[in-house]
Amino acid sequence: MDERKIIFSGIQPSGEMTIGNYLGAMRNWVKLQEEYNAYYCIVDMHAITVPKEPAYLRKKSIELLATYLACGIDPEINTLFIQSHVSAHAELAWVLSCMAYMGELNRMTQFKDKSKKNETSISSGLFTYPVLMAADILLYQTDLVPVGDDQKQHLELARDIASRFNNKYSETFKVPDPYIPKVGARIMSLQEPGSKMSKSDENENSYILMLDKPDVIKRKIKRAVTDSLGTVKYSDEQLGIKNLMTIYSSFSGENIESIEQKYEGSGYGQFKNDLTEVIVEGLRPIREKFDNLMKNKDYLENIYMLGANKAEAVARKTLRKVYKKVGFIPRKFK
Ligand code: TYM
Repeated sequence: MDERKIIFSGIQPSGEMTIGNYLGAMRNWVKLQEEYNAYYCIVDMHAITVPKEPAYLRKKSIELLATYLACGIDPEINTLFIQSHVSAHAELAWVLSCMAYMGELNRMTQFKDKSKKNETSISSGLFTYPVLMAADILLYQTDLVPVGDDQKQHLELARDIASRFNNKYSETFKVPDPYIPKVGARIMSLQEPGSKMSKSDENENSYILMLDKPDVIKRKIKRAVTDSLGTVKYSDEQLGIKNLMTIYSSFSGENIESIEQKYEGSGYGQFKNDLTEVIVEGLRPIREKFDNLMKNKDYLENIYMLGANKAEAVARKTLRKVYKKVGFIPRKFK
């Protein structure tokens, strides 16, 4: 019997991965994998809440799996799988959507932000998406969900739905806790440091991709917004520099005070040069491993095939319990 606590987390294969995805999520998954029994999912069903070209979605899904592996997520000790391969996710989402309130979903800030961008054709999937996310998590009796800061509200909702279900039908779901890193939970845009770094930003200078080449990283850091104060200080008066220091600290492991000391009196030029170096060296092994993995599609296919089998067995067990508790007649087989 596996005594380890359970982790579930996922990322949408909806575009290129930024260093926000890495520092806020993936990197912590690697740290936690030794201690926990982890399910790391490619949430393709979430990705179609906004329109996606089918071939693009397929490509990004495989690339995301390769990215997980390239970061150091070990397929031998974790379960890596594609959400749409385990139909229990959609099935539980339906039951939970009958327990979630419209008012709760209306309060989700991510929905408000995303729907503002495309006001005429917002899918109802985008609105109910946090319910699918709750289903993802609750199917595995998850203890811990490692995510960036922007997913906190969705996780709160998952906890509320789990408790509501448990109160109504008796203990069924584990109520999960968030795991949000102290540093790196909210990497900000390099161009508008008041907003989150996002893969869907139209300005490509606002983000650094995990697979960006060194010269591209150099250019983006050079263009990153700073201020006229000229001091490398971690302060809310200097949001641009504060964000760059967070990135520096996350990649190098150096703490903020020691970074402040190191660059005392030296201006932004040297700091930006060193930061570029730290990011380039941090991402280099990931890019190299990624390129190799993408040459071996059979290997990747084998991983997501085995992952789906393992995930399915666990998810079905929870779903069966849920169906029984809400009053569905168990299916009989002849
Ligand atoms: P997604 O795909 O938008 O992002 C994946 C992960 O990356 C983190 N992240 C960031 N962290 C720090 N700074 C940033 N700028 C930044 N941008 C993104 C996110 O917080 C997230 O951890 N709904 C989820 C996917 C999901 C999920 C789940 C997560 C679906 N089901 C179940 C956990 C558990 C999402 O859209 O993440």
